[in-house]
Amino acid sequence: MSLLDSARQVRENAYAPYSKFKVGAAVRGASGTVYSGVNVENVAYPEGTCAEAGAIAAMVAAGETEITEVAVIADSPTPVPPCGGCRQKLAEFARHDTPVTLATTEGERLDTTVGDLLPGRFDMSHMENT
Ligand code: THU
Repeated sequence: MSLLDSARQVRENAYAPYSKFKVGAAVRGASGTVYSGVNVENVAYPEGTCAEAGAIAAMVAAGETEITEVAVIADSPTPVPPCGGCRQKLAEFARHDTPVTLATTEGERLDTTVGDLLPGRFDMSHMENT
């Protein structure tokens, strides 16, 4: 199964009763294992979490800290762009050139990279004076 198919499949389990916007995400770890996640909303709206965060948490819980590929899918008019926070979360574990596939459930897809999603990211080098 492709990484995008994993994201498509897990999306069915998204918990999005408030926005009704179900998102599925999948990341591949350096071992080749696929970790998937969904958005999990909460009646206290700010407590909701994004699909990408869920997939990353599953990967780290399994003992991996390197992402080699990302896929995100939602029923949106254009391929769903990860939010700013998720771009920073992905960047923590990925390289500039790590491939990212953004997709719609209708079959449209946009292929990009973690670096292109978050140019000028904050990283360890910015804390060198501390
Ligand atoms: N959402 C994600 O899970 N990932 C994204 O990349 C964009 C937004 C979720 C958060 C919230 O549950 C819903 O989509 C609407 O913002």
